[in-house]
Amino acid sequence: MNIVLMGPPGAGKGTQAEKIKASYPIPHISTGDIFREAVANGTELGKQAKTYMDSGQLVPDEVTIGIVNERLTREDCQQGFLLDGFPRTTIQAEALDQGLAASGRKIEVAINISAPNEVLIERLSGRVSCKDCKKVYNLQYKPPAQAGICDVCGGQIIQRDDDRGDTVARRLEVYLEQTQPLLDYYRQKGLLYELEGNRDSIAVWADVQKILEKF
Ligand code: AP5
Ligand code: MG
Ligand code: ZN
Repeated sequence: MNIVLMGPPGAGKGTQAEKIKASYPIPHISTGDIFREAVANGTELGKQAKTYMDSGQLVPDEVTIGIVNERLTREDCQQGFLLDGFPRTTIQAEALDQGLAASGRKIEVAINISAPNEVLIERLSGRVSCKDCKKVYNLQYKPPAQAGICDVCGGQIIQRDDDRGDTVARRLEVYLEQTQPLLDYYRQKGLLYELEGNRDSIAVWADVQKILEKF
């Protein structure tokens, strides 16, 4: 199953991706996670990506497309994959289709999760995660049992740099300008499923499952 998970910052892509990953044995490829890992490791890619991420801008298409197309050639992606946060521009979507077509594959389903801006802003300002195992919490709705410490591994709880200050608003603007128009790309191909994300994550997951059961 070749899946694209779309939606604005804070819609719950990562949250639903965790649930999909637990039920379907396919790799979860989040370009945001790839960039954050590169930043944490201080690699050349990380240095390049950080300036864009910290200002809420997209990392340039050339960089992002190369990384994803390389990742999708690996063995573990041949039986399916879940893309989270990619594609985000029409150029990325076209490059993805071309890359997959070269090995006789295609995207089979695109799921878009949406929510009103006020909800997104509130979720992102409350989001924190474990520095070590990456488990995501929310200080308002789902706080760790002991403040500052991960329930799962005891690791330190941190906030993403791009969840602070003005960067959240910029990310939402960039989404509207550059990524939302991409929904038409998948709608026109008949691949798009649209879900209301302003509900309990269990209710969203029930709908995600209904969609994926068809494939
Ligand atoms: P990325 O890491 O992809 O971030 P994003 O798209 O901004 O989305 P988020 O990860 O912030 O939100 P999410 O939808 O995963 O929500 P989550 O499940 O965590 O990208 C970061 C940056 O990397 C970009 O700005 C860009 O610079 C760069 N980048 C990445 N991909 C790129 C690309 N393709 N091209 C160019 N640049 C790229 O949930 C959020 C919070 O809400 C959590 O606290 C969670 O617990 C809570 N929550 C989730 N669901 C619910 C629910 N149903 N009810 C209540 N709370 C909920
Ligand atoms: Mg995410
Ligand atoms: Zn942890």
